[in-house]
Amino acid sequence: MNNKTEYYTRTAQALHWIMAIIFIAAWIIGFYSDNFLSYDNDGSFKGQVITLHKNIATTLIFLIVIRLFWRYTHPAPKLPDSMSPLMQKLAHLGHLGLYFILLALPITGCLFSWSAGHPAPVLYLFEIPRLIQDNPELLAIVKPLHIYISWAAALLIIGHVLAALKHHFIDKDNVLRSMTRQPK
Ligand code: HEM
Repeated sequence: MNNKTEYYTRTAQALHWIMAIIFIAAWIIGFYSDNFLSYDNDGSFKGQVITLHKNIATTLIFLIVIRLFWRYTHPAPKLPDSMSPLMQKLAHLGHLGLYFILLALPITGCLFSWSAGHPAPVLYLFEIPRLIQDNPELLAIVKPLHIYISWAAALLIIGHVLAALKHHFIDKDNVLRSMTRQPK
């Protein structure tokens, strides 16, 4: 059980939990702004909330590059042998989907902002250089894309959390611990 290869490295664990917190915060703030705020009654507040959404979410673009490099150079622990080949395949597909979403949401978010004529700021420190100018045709594509992918992300993340809890409390294996502990 305490074999080193059954645990993610401390760096992988830190990246996982930091990105999870940023992702969920960005999701809630984006959802709040889009569905509960309007430019009609309090436009400046909505503007501030979207700006916060962007400043938090753009950090994921940098973190995902580090995370993919780390994942490539430090393989993940093996899934438990008690999982059927089909479940292992589904788990890998789910993880692939999560990596895709971690890239697709910040990228469509930046394209959404740039094509609407706005910047993509990072932690209130600097802006990602604008790769495209105002573009209403592109905006009509990337805006719904960003929203649909955010809903797919919510479903995938709920599934991911439920699967981790099932491993821990029902199967009683090492899967959740591999992301929270280190070998003694
Ligand atoms: C992983 C990162 C991100 C997540 C999880 C995320 C999530 C969301 C969600 C859930 C919404 C609301 C969708 C709905 O109404 O159903 C939203 C809207 C929005 N997002 Fe993102 N987003 C991310 C990254 C970004 C980035 C990097 C930008 C721009 C730099 C951005 C710009 C926007 C804008 C402008 C809106 C519309 C807000 C409004 O009209 O009130 N997003 N996002």
